[in-house]
Amino acid sequence: MTTPGKFISLEGIDGAGKSTHLNPIAEWLRARAREVVVTREPGGTPLGESLRQLLLHQSMNPDTEALVMFAARREHVVQVIAPALARGAWVVSDRYTDASFAYQGGGRGVRTEHLRHLESWVEDGIRPHLTLLFDLDPEEAHRRVVKGTPHPDRFEREQDAFFRKVRAAYLERAAQEPERFCILDSSQTPEAIFGQVCRALERLAP
Ligand code: TYD
Repeated sequence: MTTPGKFISLEGIDGAGKSTHLNPIAEWLRARAREVVVTREPGGTPLGESLRQLLLHQSMNPDTEALVMFAARREHVVQVIAPALARGAWVVSDRYTDASFAYQGGGRGVRTEHLRHLESWVEDGIRPHLTLLFDLDPEEAHRRVVKGTPHPDRFEREQDAFFRKVRAAYLERAAQEPERFCILDSSQTPEAIFGQVCRALERLAP
């Protein structure tokens, strides 16, 4: 019988450094001889990648934005995440449902009850075993985005006040599910952060 795989998501405000750690995490898992599927949201499927272009570049009503995020996510769950977990692969996703609670809920003010309804419909039980939350002060994150992003998308162009709300919503989610979340202080050096990441992964894959 195949052991079901594990699902890890990476979260944080833009500029908090999660992308830096995505490949090292995948390598860490691959070295342990597991099939590792690295994917992202919005995106991860051909339809999801088309929706990503709309989401990042086309302005829309916040409720519409939430619905399109979750539509892309449903495709991602059905086509990629659930089958990978079923065959025993490990899945590492650059963002998942917590991002919708943080950005559309916290940042844009979409009602939590709507998001909760979409969450249970779209996830259908597919939930991360571990969520690494890269946490950073929005002013510092903004400085990093300005330095590293010549053509910012519509989220990256938001002001610090927006990202303060997004960060608060992430931390609130983490407080609700402390056993799933590992909060990483992203003001540390990348080496120190990765050390913490490895300890969290070891707990998941002893
Ligand atoms: P991301 O791929 O992390 O950005 P980048 O490639 O620029 O590092 O995510 C793209 C943007 O989508 C990011 O600003 C957050 C936003 N987003 C939401 O607002 N809600 C969601 O549910 C998801 C998955 C992403």
